[in-house]
Amino acid sequence: MTRKLYVKSYGCQMNVYDSHRMADTLAPEGYVETATPDDADLIILNTCHIREKAAEKVYSEIGRMRVLKQEAAQNGRRVLVAVAGCVAQAEGKEIVRRAPSVDLVFGPQSYHRLPDMLARAAHGKVIDTEFPAEDKFDHLAAPSKVATRKRGITAFITVQEGCDKFCTFCVVPYTRGAEVSRPVEKIAAEAARLAGDGVREITLIGQNVNAYHGEGPDGRAWTLGKLLHRLAEIPGLARLRYTTSHPRDMVSELGDSLIAAHRDLPALMPQLHLPVQSGSDRILAAMNRGHTRADYLKLIERLHAVRPDLTLSSDFIVGFPGETEEDFQDTRRLIAEVGFTAAFSFKYSPRPGTPAAEMEQLPEDIKNVRLQWLQNDIDRQQAAHFAGMRGRTVDVLFEKPGLQPGQICGKSPYQQAVHVIAPTTLIGEIHPVTIVEVVGHSLSGTLAGVPRLEPQSELQSEPQYAAAGA
Ligand code: 5AD
Ligand code: SF4
Repeated sequence: MTRKLYVKSYGCQMNVYDSHRMADTLAPEGYVETATPDDADLIILNTCHIREKAAEKVYSEIGRMRVLKQEAAQNGRRVLVAVAGCVAQAEGKEIVRRAPSVDLVFGPQSYHRLPDMLARAAHGKVIDTEFPAEDKFDHLAAPSKVATRKRGITAFITVQEGCDKFCTFCVVPYTRGAEVSRPVEKIAAEAARLAGDGVREITLIGQNVNAYHGEGPDGRAWTLGKLLHRLAEIPGLARLRYTTSHPRDMVSELGDSLIAAHRDLPALMPQLHLPVQSGSDRILAAMNRGHTRADYLKLIERLHAVRPDLTLSSDFIVGFPGETEEDFQDTRRLIAEVGFTAAFSFKYSPRPGTPAAEMEQLPEDIKNVRLQWLQNDIDRQQAAHFAGMRGRTVDVLFEKPGLQPGQICGKSPYQQAVHVIAPTTLIGEIHPVTIVEVVGHSLSGTLAGVPRLEPQSELQSEPQYAAAGA
């Protein structure tokens, strides 16, 4: 019997990946994905707990699902509602207490047991927030070729999960557990299968992806740099990226092979998300980040020495407990010095159970003002970077049709959206594009050597989400 599945992902790319794998695992059970919750038999909310707002969103969404569930029940149809992901992991039973319409609650380490959990849900509530000893990846179904194609020519692979760093503001070590890396050959097999199904670009994801130390075919722990070398050999894979990295793992010897990979692998794209959070040594220490501002700058210098065109993006937190105006100005100075071309920035949000939540908090209006300043700085730098692209010719991997008729859209090596008027047959291919203009947060251009075709339109790039972590 065919049943309909609606999965909604919140938060980071790791959740997007997990949501795909849940759908893959339920496909052999007869579940087909639907784009709306209205006709679904099973609704999974794959949640994010990183900031208070993200967690609160879940409860309002559960409220909407309760109404859907009641309406379906009036028509004699049973709808199951599941809460998965990090809110499920952190709040467990509390969710069912607050929202009795929820049938299943399971954490990020349990979703390979979904078929079994669904069978049990027929007889009552199911709550599974264990950190099981078995590797969930060994129990997950692979996507069908059709599912892979539908998801496009870029894909994520989780290579590492969890975090041992315990930054004082962050819930990740509590919700995702300790750092675990998948073995090299399992990742390579997954990458080869995706490439065989038409995927051209893979982003390796993990909360601390550059802490990767999975078992290699030689029985030794391999670094991320070595893993990237292995994946670069896979035929068909044109581009590799990885996110999210922690500066601490890059200043250590783990970073040496990764920096070398940026030098040696043309497939490794010159864009790096390297969250620094703050530019003040005092605040970095209070956050337990394990590196200084000088360490970070030295690292950027080393990266630029091997890959001068590498662009950097970061995450920032403003209004961390104890952050003075001078600390904040240190962050602004760091932004200018590094020349970040993009960033995610957040007001500090106290999270239950984390050390910083116990410290004296700054008033909300200070956080608001600082966030605004910081976002203006980043916006200005991003605009300058985009404007500097005009007239340059860059390789674009075409991903999908654009919003305008006749237009296709892809990404530059620096992860910028680029639109050109060109046939859809080029999707999946890489072609040099000469950038003509900046349109919002994207670029428009012409296939190099081909005269410009009209029309052009106002387009916005899609929001990009980094893997929450690091
Ligand atoms: N408050 C605000 N931002 C946070 N982040 C993580 N925890 C918090 C918090 N308590 C941000 C960090 C991290 C990104 C994924 O989310 O900047 O890099
Ligand atoms: Fe770990 Fe990143 Fe959270 Fe720090 S911010 S505790 S490194 S996941």
